[in-house]
Amino acid sequence: MSKLRILIRLASLPVLLLTACASPSGRVPAVDDIMRAWSPELGRRPDPVALAHGRTIYLTSCARCHSPQPISRYDAGTWEKKLPQMIDDANLDLADEDALRAYLEAALKAPDTRGADAGS
Ligand code: HEC
Repeated sequence: MSKLRILIRLASLPVLLLTACASPSGRVPAVDDIMRAWSPELGRRPDPVALAHGRTIYLTSCARCHSPQPISRYDAGTWEKKLPQMIDDANLDLADEDALRAYLEAALKAPDTRGADAGS
């Protein structure tokens, strides 16, 4: 990464932190809630162990530089665009990346866990 790009990204950090703090509901759904909300129409039941690992990654590795964004702030397509750079920043290995992706996907799909932030 170029020095300039690092500077630009550091400069944008305070804005991001402010946004995160101002968020009324910093929702990072619990794995239990996702599993409870899961229904067969959503597809194959996710593995709760993988989800728990992914959630931990989200709350630790992904929260080193900024507070964790509410999952439902972005739709699946937007997450897909933002993730590669962030996964790179967080230096995740493939296993951690897979778990994180599984968690994000399940959290976005599960109806109970998606509704609360709709529109924010
Ligand atoms: C090394 C520091 C660092 C780590 C680790 C990191 N981020 Fe970020 N993140 C940033 C910075 C800086 C920004 C704001 C500037 C930007 O978008 O590049 C940002 C922005 C974001 C945004 C908002 C982007 C937007 O356009 O609004 C999301 C969502 C995000 N990060 C998610 C994650 C996730 C998920 C992880 C873990 C895989 C992660 N971040 C790990 C530094 C980091």
